[in-house]
Amino acid sequence: MVDTTSTSYNETPSTRENGAPAGSDRNSLSVGSNGPLLLHDVRLIETLAHFNRERVPERNPHAKGAGAFGVFETTEDVSRYTKAALFQKGAKTEMLARFSTVAGEQGSPDTWRDVRGFALKFYTSEGNYDLVGNNTPVFFVRDPMKFPHFIRSQKRTPDTGLRDATMQWDFWTLNPESAHQVTYLMGDRGLPRTWRHMNGYGSHTYMWINAEGEKFWVKYHFKTNQGIECMTNEEAERLAGQDAEYHRRDLAEAIDRGEYPSWTLYVQVMPYEEAKTYRFNPFDLTKVWPHADYPLIKVGTMTLNRNPENFFAEIEQAAFAPSNLVPGIGVSPDKMLLGRTFAYADAHRARIGTNYFQLPVNRPKVKTNSYTFDGNMTFEHSGKAPVYAPNSFDRPWADETGPVEDGWESDGEMVRSAYELHAEDDDFSQAGTLVREVFDDAQRDRLVDTVSSALAGVKEPVLSRAFQYWRNIDATIGERIEKAYFEKK
Ligand code: NDP
Ligand code: HEM
Repeated sequence: MVDTTSTSYNETPSTRENGAPAGSDRNSLSVGSNGPLLLHDVRLIETLAHFNRERVPERNPHAKGAGAFGVFETTEDVSRYTKAALFQKGAKTEMLARFSTVAGEQGSPDTWRDVRGFALKFYTSEGNYDLVGNNTPVFFVRDPMKFPHFIRSQKRTPDTGLRDATMQWDFWTLNPESAHQVTYLMGDRGLPRTWRHMNGYGSHTYMWINAEGEKFWVKYHFKTNQGIECMTNEEAERLAGQDAEYHRRDLAEAIDRGEYPSWTLYVQVMPYEEAKTYRFNPFDLTKVWPHADYPLIKVGTMTLNRNPENFFAEIEQAAFAPSNLVPGIGVSPDKMLLGRTFAYADAHRARIGTNYFQLPVNRPKVKTNSYTFDGNMTFEHSGKAPVYAPNSFDRPWADETGPVEDGWESDGEMVRSAYELHAEDDDFSQAGTLVREVFDDAQRDRLVDTVSSALAGVKEPVLSRAFQYWRNIDATIGERIEKAYFEKK
């Protein structure tokens, strides 16, 4: 909302970028009223040239989104699992959240069926901690090599620039580990009513380390305190036409009304050694840890209470990265997560600029002493302090050696391979559990309707493979989907 009382600009008539009077924001300098324009009209040149550079590239995945600031409060004592300052009982940490769709571009409707991003940045007293998750506890693939292929298959064809169901189902059915996430996506939760009415999951397994150096494996669950609410296909389609910004608007307006959305954070904790023998590979991102095996443990509450003042500066330029970790929290052998520790900061350098981390929204609230220097738009610097380490002039540097506290044992031949299978690992059984044991009859009916419609236009041999994919998830559901598809044709 435009704020006419804002004084975040100079209250005199406008200036040029150098601070001198602008002259005019309405009339270009010309030779006579009808005459040609002049190259030395600095104001015109500045106005047009800066406009050409006004956008930065949109995020490749997760381009359409919005966010808000808030606070995370740790209400429970989980110090036996982590020493991270933000998760000590009583700690209150400023934070930023950004919600998004995955496949659509900047202008795409908020209500297209898709996974929703749930990206969090905590400005902790030990540096920034980012948890870049989704509204689903699992993902489509389990090797980072597949991620760009996956995203391209969900975006647009190279020739017509259209989205294409054959391409989407071709990728999914050729990568059957996608079955769990696709089932989740085609279920009710693929169309959240608003961002306020969905859960967030860290999805990956992370490591927590306590003050004694003991390690645990954890999964994060942010449960919405607004309750889960979803939309029907018809509502979502109608809103896609009527109000493409439906979710963005909902979040901003709720916060403006003082209705601050909140989520309660729970974690599942697996003792370090159990990972080796657990019935599922606990680092496989296409699997959940059943609650019966690892119950939810409450940690605290996240509340969003402040809209951005400037969407571009604070949301478009926000840079969330799974590599932003703090002491007491580490990554795990999940190959996807390991791939992501490279991908994001690299995307930020390319999308925003080399020094993206110096922007106010990305800057840690703690003083930094990094040994990276210069580059485009350097703003923060360390003056004339030494730029190399070690040095003899009192600029501290880091010099840890030996095993790291957030590491794990690893040895073996270098191979290109899928994960070793644990006792109950396969691609379809947890998806089948979701269909049979979590969905009720009405949800199963809606699943059949959604999938049989989503298959419209899919070409052979992909179509037959898609029917088989669903039969592998659940024989009955597969048959029902095939029947419904031919009835709709
Ligand atoms: P539980 O019965 O203990 O858990 C089932 C969970 O499914 C619920 O707690 C809820 O999680 C979630 N859920 C409820 N309705 C839906 C829906 N319509 N669409 C998607 N998820 C829903 O069983 P398990 O832990 O053994 O899990 C069984 C299946 O439930 C899994 O295979 C997985 O597909 C799904 N699930 C499991 C989660 C987990 O971490 N164990 C998390 C989410 C889903 P929530 O409270 O998080 O909303
Ligand atoms: C955004 C890569 C898997 C959640 C992005 C971006 C890239 C990327 C390059 C754009 C970043 C930017 O420009 O700021 C990858 C790769 C993956 C992967 C290589 C697999 C190896 C995942 C998974 C999740 C996820 C598994 C969730 C569990 C998100 C979210 C965003 C995002 C929420 C948007 C962040 C924001 O709001 O700025 N991803 N991704 N991604 N990704 Fe991933």
